[in-house]
Amino acid sequence: MTQIMDGRVLSDKIKNNVRKEVEQLRGFGIEVGLGLLLVGDNPASEQYFLATLKACKKVGITSYEFKLSGNTSVNEVLNVIHSCNTDERINGLLVLFPLPERINARRVVNEIIPGKDVDGLGAISVGRLAADESTFQIFREGSYELLHESRFRPSISSFLPCTPFGVIRLLEFYGVEMKGMHAVVVGKSLAVGKPLSNMLLAKEATVTVCHRGTYDLGHFLGHADIVCSATGVRNLIRGDMVREGAVVVDIGIKVLDDGTIVGDVDYESVKKKASLITPVPGGVGPVTISMLLENTLRSAQRNELLKSPLMMG
Ligand SMILES: NC(=O)c1ccc[n+]([C@@H]2O[C@H](COP(=O)([O-])OP(=O)(O)OC[C@H]3O[C@@H](n4cnc5c(N)ncnc54)[C@H](OP(=O)(O)O)[C@@H]3O)[C@@H](O)[C@H]2O)c1
Repeated sequence: MTQIMDGRVLSDKIKNNVRKEVEQLRGFGIEVGLGLLLVGDNPASEQYFLATLKACKKVGITSYEFKLSGNTSVNEVLNVIHSCNTDERINGLLVLFPLPERINARRVVNEIIPGKDVDGLGAISVGRLAADESTFQIFREGSYELLHESRFRPSISSFLPCTPFGVIRLLEFYGVEMKGMHAVVVGKSLAVGKPLSNMLLAKEATVTVCHRGTYDLGHFLGHADIVCSATGVRNLIRGDMVREGAVVVDIGIKVLDDGTIVGDVDYESVKKKASLITPVPGGVGPVTISMLLENTLRSAQRNELLKSPLMMG
C-alpha cells in the first residue's frame, strides 16, 4: 500500500524541538532573531513572508521585518543586508524571491555573511555544500557514525538550503534508505535541484539530474528508486513514467487560476505505483519553513559558542 509522506507531521516535530531549544536559550538571556527582507509585492512572496512570521512567533523566534517597495534601489537593498549582517539581534536573514528583475539576485544573496545565510543560497554556502564541508548537518539526526569521517565533521559556519534539506529530512523521517539507491532529481536550479543532488550524493545515492535539456525524461524516471521533482510544471511526472514501488517527492508548486495549489506530479496516477509519495500541498512545503527556523536557531547557538569558547569543551 502507498504511504503518504505528510510534511506537517515532521514540520510539527521540528518546530516543537526548535521551540524548546529557543526557550532554553531564553533562560540564558539569549533571544533568537530572524530578519525577513521583502522587496516589491509579489503575492506568493508576501504569502511566504506572512507564513514565516507566523511560524517564528509560534516557536518564539523574534522576527525583524524589512519591507521595501518594488522600485527601491539596489543600494538600499544592500544597506538593509549590511545592517542585518552586523546586528547582533539577527541570527539569520531570509531574502524573499523573486526580487524585481532589475536587481541582481545573486549579488544580493552574496552580500549576506555565510554565518547568517540561513537559506544557504550564497556562493560560499553553495560551495561548502558542494565541497562536503556542510553536509554534516544532514547527518545530525541520521547516521551519526559518519561524523567520525573527517569530511563530515562540523568545522565551519554555513547552512544548507531549506527546501532540499527538508526533502532529505522528510526521506529520513519516513525511513527511506538513500545509500545505493538511484535518485532522479528533476530540475537543476540553485535553490532546489542542484543542492538536493549534492545532498543525495552525500547520502551515497547514485544521482541523475534531469532538466529541460533532458531528451527522454521517462527513460530516467523509469530507472529511479527515488524521484524528486522541482520544476513547477503541472503533471510532468505521470504514473506510466515511474517504476513500481518508487519513492516520489513532489517539490513543485503551481497556483492555478482558481487558487488551487498543485505540484509536478500527477498524484492519482503516480500514487497507484509509488511506495511513498508526498502530497501537494502538505508535503515538502511545511518542512521548508521548519528548516529555516532550525537553521536560525543553530546560528544563534553557534554564535553563543563562539562568544564563549569555554563552552566548547
Ligand atoms: N515546496 C517548497 O517549499 C518549495 C520551495 C522552493 C521552490 N518550490 C517550487 O519548486 C519548483 C521549482 O523551483 P525552483 O526555484 O527550482 O524553480 P526554477 O529556478 O524555475 O527551476 C526549475 C527547474 O525545472 C526545470 N524544468 C522546467 N521545465 C522542465 C521540463 N519540462 N522538464 C524537465 N525539467 C524542467 C528547469 O530546467 P532548466 O534549468 O533546464 O531550465 C529548472 O532547472 C517551483 O514550482 C517552486 O514553486 C517549492
